[in-house]
Amino acid sequence: MAILIRDEAPDDIVAIHELTRRAFAPMPYADGDEQDVIDRLRASGALALSLVAEQDGAVVGQVTFSPAAAPGGVDGWFTLGPVSVEPAIQKQEIGARLIRAGLDRLRSQGAAGCILLGNPAYYSRFGFCVAAQYAPAEDHSEFFQMLSFAGPVPDGRFGYHAAFAG
Ligand SMILES: CC(C)(COP(=O)(O)OP(=O)(O)OC[C@H]1O[C@@H](n2cnc3c(N)ncnc32)[C@H](O)[C@@H]1OP(=O)(O)O)[C@@H](O)C(=O)NCCC(=O)NCCS
Repeated sequence: MAILIRDEAPDDIVAIHELTRRAFAPMPYADGDEQDVIDRLRASGALALSLVAEQDGAVVGQVTFSPAAAPGGVDGWFTLGPVSVEPAIQKQEIGARLIRAGLDRLRSQGAAGCILLGNPAYYSRFGFCVAAQYAPAEDHSEFFQMLSFAGPVPDGRFGYHAAFAG
């Protein structure tokens, strides 16, 4: 069945919440509030980009991008995540297509780069590198990764939008 990658629409909001809850529920590293983070970002006007994967009229995947707090207040950095794919159809490149489409969009809009917290075994395929020295002080820095699109990386620690903290 064909997969369509598109921007989220108002009618997708409930489906994104439920999909994110289902996808993260079995994950030992999940905080349990990933679906609420997306809702809080949206409510704060900080959902910079939300792409969904649609299959047969249903939302089966979603990726979130929000403005990151770069050192020195430098503009143009984004946080990738949460990202989810319907558990029954994971490992079919839907997550990869969502992430690549999101990164391409940010690049085309002149973004400086992207940060995330996740497993390097997955995100290295998109060009992310572990960047422990830039990690927020509270993070497990071996999971903090960065992809710079252009220009120098501002020196110091990055942070996430306040919506991640609850
Ligand atoms: C992570 C996720 C979005 C990837 O989407 P997907 O469509 O299943 O993934 P893809 O088909 O693009 O890629 C599959 C590969 O990713 C790997 N992978 C998926 N999740 C991974 C994880 N958390 N850590 C390491 N590798 C992971 C798979 O093992 C597979 O590896 P391979 O290509 O070497 O065989 C999806 O698995 C998911 O929703 N997971 C639950 C929620 C979650 O953990 N989100 C990310 C938190 S950092």
